[in-house]
Amino acid sequence: MTVPIAIIGTGIAGLSAARALKDAGHVIQLFDKSRGSGGRMSSKRSAAGALDLGAQYFTARDRRFVEEVQRWQLNGWAEQWKPQLYNFQSGQLSPSPDEQTRWVGTPHMSAITRALLDDFPVEFSCRITEVFQGKQHWNLLDADGGNHGPFSHVIIATPAHQATTLLAAAPKLASVAAGVKMEPTWAIALAFDTPLNTPMEGCFVQDSPLDWLARNRSKPGRDTTLDTWVLHATSAWSKEHLDLPKEAVIELLHGAFAELLHCPMPAPSFSLAHRWLYARPAGSHEWGVLADADLGVYVCGDWCLSGRVEGAWLSGQEAARRLIEHLQ
Ligand code: FAD
Ligand code: NAI
Repeated sequence: MTVPIAIIGTGIAGLSAARALKDAGHVIQLFDKSRGSGGRMSSKRSAAGALDLGAQYFTARDRRFVEEVQRWQLNGWAEQWKPQLYNFQSGQLSPSPDEQTRWVGTPHMSAITRALLDDFPVEFSCRITEVFQGKQHWNLLDADGGNHGPFSHVIIATPAHQATTLLAAAPKLASVAAGVKMEPTWAIALAFDTPLNTPMEGCFVQDSPLDWLARNRSKPGRDTTLDTWVLHATSAWSKEHLDLPKEAVIELLHGAFAELLHCPMPAPSFSLAHRWLYARPAGSHEWGVLADADLGVYVCGDWCLSGRVEGAWLSGQEAARRLIEHLQ
């Protein structure tokens, strides 16, 4: 019987590793604590349609990722997003067009990871709490006391903090992961019955509690019934207001949005807030992957590379490549 490889995390890094291993003929088994795939690249179903509350768009600079995104585009999972971009600085809002190609999942960000998940064996709503070594193989324990295994290798594809807690059996990797700080982001969505009177479709924000805003209907394939906006707070503001109730976060960021647009803003007909505790790495690293090949443990994710969708995908590829290389 072939002993499968366990992959913890079905974000873009875990799915990237899964695809590469499957293509090389390996048997894999995925786990995720959430009810679906995508992690920080997922969308949330809401009364205003599916909303991208995490990754807003992605860029592709590495040749390998450019080719992968072309494949997604050909399959209808991703399309270019060409927003009217603005910049807000020192109280001034000004158009800020550029030539950068930006991609989004269609009809929502989750479409990409959902398609990549394919028919891989996966257990959702399964939070892994321990990775431990048996006589020859690895086993995983989940939060409900379930035991999974045996596995020949383990790939941990979670944010750094969650990876650290799973790395008791690989202390060298644990100490590297423990040194990575990840910062939070408060994200909110505001939906208006009457479209806001602005041509703006995306905005990079400075000198404000806000960091970024995006007009949902400007992305291809989105529901256009309401004029829905996704707003992200800065890491600093999010840290400072980490435990604020969601209603208060919505009120404060709605106020910052009105200030930015310099106009009275109607009350939204729908709003929601989501707190990403481990949104982005505080610093940048170029590890690609953390590996203990003799133990058979690999750690990947955006924090091992660029803190972006592209970095997460490349990190997953690197984990698979290193594992396959060690088997040869
Ligand atoms: P994740 O997507 O975090 O996946 C990890 C998975 O592991 C999750 O599904 C989680 O549920 C699961 N998991 C964690 N612990 C366990 C456990 N113990 N057991 C089982 N499962 C577990 N990037 C861009 O390129 N462009 C952007 O515009 C952009 N904007 C962003 C805005 C926000 C608010 C956030 C939060 C992120 C943004 N990013 C952006 C970053 C991008 O989303 C990430 O770099 C990328 O999605 C990370 O993928 P990943 O697979 O490394 O991790
Ligand atoms: P990108 O090239 O569009 O943006 C990179 C940065 O360049 C932007 O953050 C912005 O500061 C600046 N910039 C780019 N175009 C601009 C324009 N037209 N006008 C003014 N400033 C402009 O995309 P890339 O490199 O793929 O980065 C991804 C984005 O994801 C970044 O904006 C980053 O901040 C964001 N992100 C947010 C996270 C969060 O938790 N909120 C986590 C990870 C990434």
